[in-house]
Amino acid sequence: MKIVVKEGSAERTAVEALVIGITQDAGKHRRPAVAKLAEVQAFDGRPNQTSSFFTQGRLPAKRVLLVGLGKAEEVTLERVRQAAGMAAKAARQLGIKRLAIELPVEAERRFSKSDQAAAIAEAVVLATYRFKRYKSPDPNEKPELQELAILVREKMSLATASKAVRAAQIVAESTCLARDLANLPSNDAYPEKIAAMVRKEARRVGLRCRVFDHRQIERMGMGGVVAVGQGSVHPPRFVVLEHRKGGPKRPTLALIGKGITFDSGGISIKPGEKMDQMKYDKSGGCAVIGALRAAALLRLPVNVIGIIAFCENLPSGTAYRPGDIIRMYSGKTVEVLNTDAEGRMTLADALAYARRQYKPAAVVDLATLTGACVVALGNAAMGLFSNDQPLADRVARAGEATWERTWRLPVWEDYHERIKSEVADIRQIGDRSGAGAITAACFLQKFVDGTPWVHLDIAGTAWADDERPYVPRGATGSGVRLLVRLLHEWGR
Ligand code: BES
Ligand code: MN
Ligand code: ZN
Repeated sequence: MKIVVKEGSAERTAVEALVIGITQDAGKHRRPAVAKLAEVQAFDGRPNQTSSFFTQGRLPAKRVLLVGLGKAEEVTLERVRQAAGMAAKAARQLGIKRLAIELPVEAERRFSKSDQAAAIAEAVVLATYRFKRYKSPDPNEKPELQELAILVREKMSLATASKAVRAAQIVAESTCLARDLANLPSNDAYPEKIAAMVRKEARRVGLRCRVFDHRQIERMGMGGVVAVGQGSVHPPRFVVLEHRKGGPKRPTLALIGKGITFDSGGISIKPGEKMDQMKYDKSGGCAVIGALRAAALLRLPVNVIGIIAFCENLPSGTAYRPGDIIRMYSGKTVEVLNTDAEGRMTLADALAYARRQYKPAAVVDLATLTGACVVALGNAAMGLFSNDQPLADRVARAGEATWERTWRLPVWEDYHERIKSEVADIRQIGDRSGAGAITAACFLQKFVDGTPWVHLDIAGTAWADDERPYVPRGATGSGVRLLVRLLHEWGR
């Protein structure tokens, strides 16, 4: 999609369709032409309400699309994102190819024009995403939205707004890449194949990429990755992406993502219902790939590495079993109790590898790790677990700014007690006394060895059962925007 920022307003812009954001009290405001339109349409400006009609000469645009922003004093950037997403979807249904959106005038004073323009660009790209790779072309399908013009009222802010919009588009498209990868079915995205896709994308955007194959993973002593991968005919791959553009004196941030290409549960097999969705168990890894891609294209002045162990968790005669004791990359031994707790096995090796090879100043991992986190927080927040208050605060702030919100849960010593083993250094899971998302985090913490660390459990946020204003059904790309925001700050 082509996105441009232009000087203009509803009263002066001739296009196929023009979006005007309307606040709930539009009648009181200073634009008679617009207020009149809303009134005629009985449009009251409630959040995300939309209405479209031909202007029949009342404005230069052929059609107008009104979208509600809610009460003027309550307009936030997230409201703007949602409104822009709703408008873009309405435009798509009408088969509109060129769309102009006017910045919501009433809220202009609350945040900068470039932040608003960026929010609009981001939301339009995200809202119009669809996963179509496996659909035969439909002759009756409406054309795609090709061009978006964001209208700014004065020339002055054009350059800054354009820059912000370009950056937002990169981040949104990187989110769509994460969605694409996470949506891929497991027959087409087994470890070897997805690692090859990542390598190709890395080359395209200028990221350093190394892929370790099964033999190398074994030789390095990654017992967790080997154990989880050994039930499948598709052997694991260990992927390392590097973007080192912060200079040698700047600290390194390591991003680790869970990359289970399919999670059947293994020998501790899952019930059949919704098992198809377990292709999205690679979402944490896909978010890390999306974030690194954005970092490269934005030329962020940071040192960041991304690590993903891709494995397929299946039951078979060669699969790992409950009761197995595995020696991990760190040297610690783990008593396996449930082969469905596979994510932590692969993440533990990735965390220990990051620490040993890169000595990062901080580590953030993202994982669709536990059903317990979905029970606790649903799809509105990721679970946040940390051993470091300043890092936890930074991540939480990045989550607020992007509306990829987090909610912190404790990793107290009391919970660590529950993963003590009689026969190995650590138990893989707690007992049946609840707090499954927390004991999983405690397990991971044993492998970061004091490095400032945040674990984000995205099991609830990585998949959308129902469509939202700028999130279609399926993989959401959860975490990409939060991570890129964090990287922006990391560079300061
Ligand atoms: N990938 C799942 C977690 C999950 C569940 C993600 C539902 C998204 C939706 C993970 O590997 C898993 O199976 N976790 C188990 C852990 C248990 C065996 C201790 C779980 O949550 O039930
Ligand atoms: Mn599992
Ligand atoms: Zn899993």
